[in-house]
Amino acid sequence: MVRQEPNGQFALAPLGQPLRRDVPDSLYRMVRLWGTDLFKLTWMRFPHSVRTGQSAQEYLYGLRQFDYLATQPEVAAIFNDGMLAGTLTVAAAALDAYDFSAFRSIVDVGGGSGALAATVLKANPTLRGSVFDLPFCRVLPPVGGPLTDAVFGDVTMIVHTGGRERTQAEYAGLLESAGFRLRRVVPTRVAQSVVEAVPN
Ligand SMILES: C[S@@+](CC[C@H](N)C(=O)[O-])C[C@H]1O[C@@H](n2cnc3c(N)ncnc32)[C@H](O)[C@@H]1O
Repeated sequence: MVRQEPNGQFALAPLGQPLRRDVPDSLYRMVRLWGTDLFKLTWMRFPHSVRTGQSAQEYLYGLRQFDYLATQPEVAAIFNDGMLAGTLTVAAAALDAYDFSAFRSIVDVGGGSGALAATVLKANPTLRGSVFDLPFCRVLPPVGGPLTDAVFGDVTMIVHTGGRERTQAEYAGLLESAGFRLRRVVPTRVAQSVVEAVPN
């Protein structure tokens, strides 16, 4: 990722270029997030999560992920920024795969910086949009370019939140319990899909 120059200084090699913030496929925000103590120390307790099912983060800090972030504004800002980086890729893919123009308004629940909502609104200017999130989240205008696809699987969910990814059948059950019927799942070019549900 880095190479040593003849004068002894170090410079980014081609593989390290995505670490810059000003390149289209920048990994800067995500690397900064994974470099925080929050992420490093939590992942060191990965075996605890596997053994017990408890979020390593809760085990370490005694608080659930978002309760902890609410007490740590600087880490929360880095977290939001990291989420934004991943969402820029997902938002572009969702927009290509799914026609949002049939709707009048959208609500992005747990929408963080609002990057997904902003991407959909930009492409569908007649829509109205809201972002619903916790008070420590900052809504930002979308910036930067798409991020190389990153897959956050079950292990990330369990280590940080004690949660998990869900199958289509599990989503159907979850939606059913909230009064919705899963109508279809629209794949995108990235790992995430658009799950369409309607009120029962
Ligand atoms: C994995 S992040 C996803 C961020 C966001 N979708 C994005 O694109 O940046 C989960 C989000 O859910 C929010 N969240 C967690 N618990 C919440 C709650 N009880 N009510 C509203 N938002 C919540 C967090 O603050 C966080 O922004």
